Parts: sequence; structure tokens; C-alpha cells
Amino acid sequence: MKISVIGAGYLGATHAICMASLGHEVVVVDIDSEKIAQLAGGALPFFEPGLTELLKKVGESKSITFTTEIAAISESAIHFLCLGTPQASGQLGADLTTLNKAFAATIDVAPEGSVVVGKSTVPVGTAERLAAELQESQKSLTLNWNPEFLREGHAVADTLEPNRIVIGANQESDTALLSDFYRSVAPNAPQFITNFATAELVKVAANAFLATKISFINAMSEVADVTGADVSLLADAIGIDDRIGRKFLGAGIGFGGGCLPKDIRAFLARADELGLGDSLQFLREFDLINQRARTRAVALALKELGDPRGKKVAVLGAAFKPESDDVRDSPALEIAETLATLGANVVVTDPRALENAQVKVPDLGYSESITEALRGADLVMHLTEWSEYRELDPLEVKKVVKNPIIFDGRNVLDVESWRKAGWKLLALGRTL
Ligand code: UDX
Repeated sequence: MKISVIGAGYLGATHAICMASLGHEVVVVDIDSEKIAQLAGGALPFFEPGLTELLKKVGESKSITFTTEIAAISESAIHFLCLGTPQASGQLGADLTTLNKAFAATIDVAPEGSVVVGKSTVPVGTAERLAAELQESQKSLTLNWNPEFLREGHAVADTLEPNRIVIGANQESDTALLSDFYRSVAPNAPQFITNFATAELVKVAANAFLATKISFINAMSEVADVTGADVSLLADAIGIDDRIGRKFLGAGIGFGGGCLPKDIRAFLARADELGLGDSLQFLREFDLINQRARTRAVALALKELGDPRGKKVAVLGAAFKPESDDVRDSPALEIAETLATLGANVVVTDPRALENAQVKVPDLGYSESITEALRGADLVMHLTEWSEYRELDPLEVKKVVKNPIIFDGRNVLDVESWRKAGWKLLALGRTL
């Protein structure tokens, strides 16, 4: 099928490349000519495992084209809107400017009878508003809302083998084309055909729930700090109950990235607009618990370092999570920056995110070499659980650092082997 993808960011590029790999003819449109040139040249503007290889394959088969001209969508049957909806500056709510502009440009040139599909995460009520604009324009186009659930680092698999498809529309018959399209993409994925509000809410509610699980266990970690309990064992013991589940009960320095933090804030802002502030008040608390996890990590480091001035802190990890080069709202980078501001000599290393980290926080020390970052360290902070760091040999690392003290911000290191090698381990919610 001929389809177009408007917005070549993380979501759009992944969706476009994956759909092209299934044999669809895909036109990708973005106003950023540099990004378009880069993609057309076979390079990704971000790191995602497996996606560059797939881009190379579809590029050679010529099933994908990249352009800055919106008119290029004029032969497509489906147009996927994949625009970013970041947190608006100085506010909790989302900034829909680029989505609104792209929607207007799309309906202007989309051929009669085609389907416009919103994939961006939006405040509930947005699709209804856009559908009203579409009606006013008197074009015979259909609007569907189809949230995505892809996780960075697993985006290819999540797109090619989605665990669910959600399609929102004004009436069920409006969803026929997109529903058939996804049946060919993912025949086994259950489909949920809903109204607009439900489709929009599925996405934000899912992210709010994930954030809730993480902040819940980090609240327990605060309790554990005071009472002497061990939050990791607590998570194991409550998570074994499959009504609760162990996933997303990883206590530590909390969640970051381009989705969870901004999505719960946008949800809060929308709830306030709807007069539902009380219903989502808990999310405000969970945002605060998440922020506190970062300050607790800094406090623990300071307790160990004493006066941080002139002390070397080796930070393992800058990305908000492993298998990603994304440093948006990264707990690791924020902790590193705070310690540097307090006078510590911080050296950050990361297998993929150094370039982005340097752009965001230019004043920190950075090293591509794990050994150089660790050399002479008074304290090691393990903040993003890349397998490279989990697999470090504590005996070897001990030879390079000044003091064998490590803070495990993700609670994933093998405590016994580090302890046996003579390390002092620090963690939130655990006395090690
Ligand atoms: C998230 C959702 O999972 C995805 O479905 C949605 O489409 C976009 O937002 P992503 O931002 O890629 O995906 O990351 P995710 O794997 O959810 O992790 C988010 C953050 O939570 C990371 O910083 C991670 O380190 C942290 N986290 C995760 C924890 O602190 N503890 C856990 O137990 C799990």
C-alpha cells in the first residue's frame, strides 16, 4: 500500500522504515532538511538497535523516499502523523504546535478518500478537535487515532510485532482501512476499536501506570532507607504475585526519557483543564517521588564524598536507559550535572549517548573509555544499566580507581561479586 509518514523523529522514522520493510511504499516528510538528507543517505539521526540495518535494506529496495515536500503525500492512502508533542516551555502541558501545523498541511494536500492517522501522544480531546477542523475543511478525509507503545531500544520489534493495536474514530466504519492495514502487518495483535477519547487515553493511562509502578517502588525505597528494609527483595517478594508483577518495580534513580515524565505532566495539565485535578493528584506525587530519587542519589554521594570539591566521580551511563542514545530528562545526566555543580570532578562515560550528553551539558568531563572515566575515581556512580557495566570485573575495576566505592543507581549489580572483590556498595533503599 502507498502510505506516508509525516514527522521523521524517533516514532516516525521507526514506523516508516518498519512499514517499508514489509513491502509498503512509504513517503516520509519532515520540514527538517538536514534530517531528511541524513535519512536519505542511509543514516539515522538517533541510535536504535537494528534500525540502521533495516534502513539500508529498504533504501536499496527503493520502497522508501524522504522529502521535505508535503505535496509528495498526494498518492498515499494512509498518512501517519508522527509529530513530537514535547512539554511546553514553563508549563506542565504538551506543546501541540508542530502537530497542529502538520495536520493542517496534510489535510490540504491529502487525496480525497484517504485516511489521516494521528500517532502522536496527545491530551484527550485533541482528536475530536482535529476531526471538527477536518469537517470544516469539507475535504472527504477520515481521521483515526492510533497510539503507539514502542519502547526505545526495542522499537523495531515493538513496531513489527506490536502487542496490541488501538484505533480510535468517530464511528467504527471509519477504521476499516487502517484495521485491514494492521491485520496485514500484525495478524496476531488484538485490535481495540474505540472512540477518540479512549484511544488517546489508552496511551497516557498506560504511561501513567508504568510511571506509577516505578514511583511506587521508589516510595517503598524511601521507607526502606529509614527502616532498614531491602527494597529489591521487597520488589521480588511482592512482584511474585502475578496480580502485581515484578516488571517496572526496578527501584533506583527513577524514570526519565522523552515519554513518561512529559506524558504524566501533560495528563495532569489536561486533568486540571477538565476539572479533574483531584482524580490525578497521585501523579503529581509520583512525579515528585521520581524527582526525589535523583536528589537522594546526590545526597548519598555527598555523604560518602564529604566535601565534593576536587573529588573525582566516575559516572557510568548518560542515557535515560540502556540501548538508547537519548538523554532527554535523563536521571543519570542530571545527577552527574548536579555533582559537578557542587564542585566534584565528574567524568561521564556511555557507549552511545556521549555526543548528545555533551550537547546538553557541555561543561561535564566526558570519556569514551570506561577505564579513563574510572581512573583515580573517589566514587563510581553506576547510573544507566548498560550490559557493559553490569559485566565489569570488579577486581579489574578496583585496580584503576582510587577508592573502591560504587553506587548502584539501578540495583542490578551482583552485590556478592563486588563485595568479595573488596568494594563498598551503596544503593537507595538497601543497606549493602
Ligand atoms: C515508555 C513506555 O514504556 C512505552 O510503552 C511508550 O511508548 C513510551 O514511553 P521508554 O520511554 O522507551 O518507553 O522507556 P521505558 O522502558 O518505559 O523506561 C522509562 C524509564 O523508566 C527509564 O528511565 C527506565 O530506566 C525507568 N525504569 C524502568 C525504572 O526506573 N524502573 C523500572 O523498573 C523500569
